Amino acid sequence: MITVEQINEKLSKVAYPGFTKSIVDFGFVKDVAVENNNAMIFVDITSSAPEVEASLREDITKELKVLGLEDINITIKKPQAPKQMSNTQSGKNIAPQVKNFIMVSSGKGGVGKSTTSVNLAIALAMQGKKVGLLDADIYGPNIPRMVGLDGSEPEIIGGKVKPFNAYGIEVMSMGSLVEEGQALVWRGAMIQKAIQQLLQDILWSELDCLVIDMPPGTGDAQLTLAQSVPVAAGINVTTPQQVALDDSRRSLEMFAKLNIPVAGIVENMSGFVCPKCDEESDIFGSGTCDDLAKEYNTDVLACIPIEPSIRVAGDEGKPVVYFYPDSLTGKRYLEAADKLWANIVKSNEDGAIGNDTIQPNLPAGVSACSAEGQAYQEKQKQEAAEKAASGGCCGGGHCS
Ligand SMILES: Nc1ncnc2c1ncn2[C@@H]1O[C@H](COP(=O)(O)OP(=O)(O)OP(=O)(O)O)[C@@H](O)[C@H]1O
Ligand SMILES: [Mg+2]
Repeated sequence: MITVEQINEKLSKVAYPGFTKSIVDFGFVKDVAVENNNAMIFVDITSSAPEVEASLREDITKELKVLGLEDINITIKKPQAPKQMSNTQSGKNIAPQVKNFIMVSSGKGGVGKSTTSVNLAIALAMQGKKVGLLDADIYGPNIPRMVGLDGSEPEIIGGKVKPFNAYGIEVMSMGSLVEEGQALVWRGAMIQKAIQQLLQDILWSELDCLVIDMPPGTGDAQLTLAQSVPVAAGINVTTPQQVALDDSRRSLEMFAKLNIPVAGIVENMSGFVCPKCDEESDIFGSGTCDDLAKEYNTDVLACIPIEPSIRVAGDEGKPVVYFYPDSLTGKRYLEAADKLWANIVKSNEDGAIGNDTIQPNLPAGVSACSAEGQAYQEKQKQEAAEKAASGGCCGGGHCS
């Protein structure tokens, strides 16, 4: 009959991967039970790295096998893996005063990204958020006209540009920084620079969110934005017809590739509201985004009908949601803003703090990421290597 003591004795020989100290000495073994020659081991570790778990399972099994147990059941509890963000790899956040970046994208041009960006940004502000709106459509910046800022000259303060204020939000656009009507021909490196400057060289306040209206497609502008800041939410705007949906898939795939959480789809020009009788009828179709949303495990944030007043509002710089919050469209934008915010809150809550680098035997108060912590770990590795070379290795296979 194998006893708990015998198992503990074996476990005390299992070194924590990368260390000479055992999992028992670290206090990681939380419980051991034996029943009918079957062992159950409960271990609680501080690393979320899958290779640490795999290595531990292998080492524990190897040690315990010699006891002749019939079954070895190992439960390893570990912290949630850190959430990948769009900037995880680059490690950059060039506008840290903004809490949440919202990227408004579409696979196709002319589907209503700018209209959606303007109305969602204002809706969020009407709901009490501190909001900025960045027109990052460097090829065809339309936002100044849509918020009534056409022709306004920006104020420069200490080499940086002060954003405008309109309808309770901060606004900046490439269209306000270059001469009106000027055709901009961009090369890759110039696009990168322009997007970074719009984030870095604009005096954005401490914002709850920055809504970013992108050029159509999936190119350099999207990539640069994603790598320069942690994008908290991606919104795909599309019209309901099949050809637009095909392009939307590309846009949604891009979000996935760039580690941008998808907050939802806005189905724009979804049905037509007759200005004479107020009746809704389908022109491009409607409701086609439901399946697309399901396919990408997301929601339809709003279905916005084709409404002549939306186009007029855009041309005149008088956004629908601000001037007609009680209209059908106004209400749908407000609802979409609500859903978007709920999604961002949830997504932020789900984002576990990564502690891959937390290791157990650093002196109290010393972070593994700090220079001091890294020097300490280096010293430990060196000592272990010297010990191994002199024949004093524990033989656990993980001395380094
Ligand atoms: N639901 C709608 N009903 C009526 N007109 C609309 C609607 N949505 C957008 N429009 C109008 O359609 C035109 C294109 O919209 P918008 O500029 O928002 O699209 P976009 O996707 O940003 O285009 P681009 O790809 O060129 O940047 C604008 O004149 C806008 O006012
Ligand atoms: Mg646009």
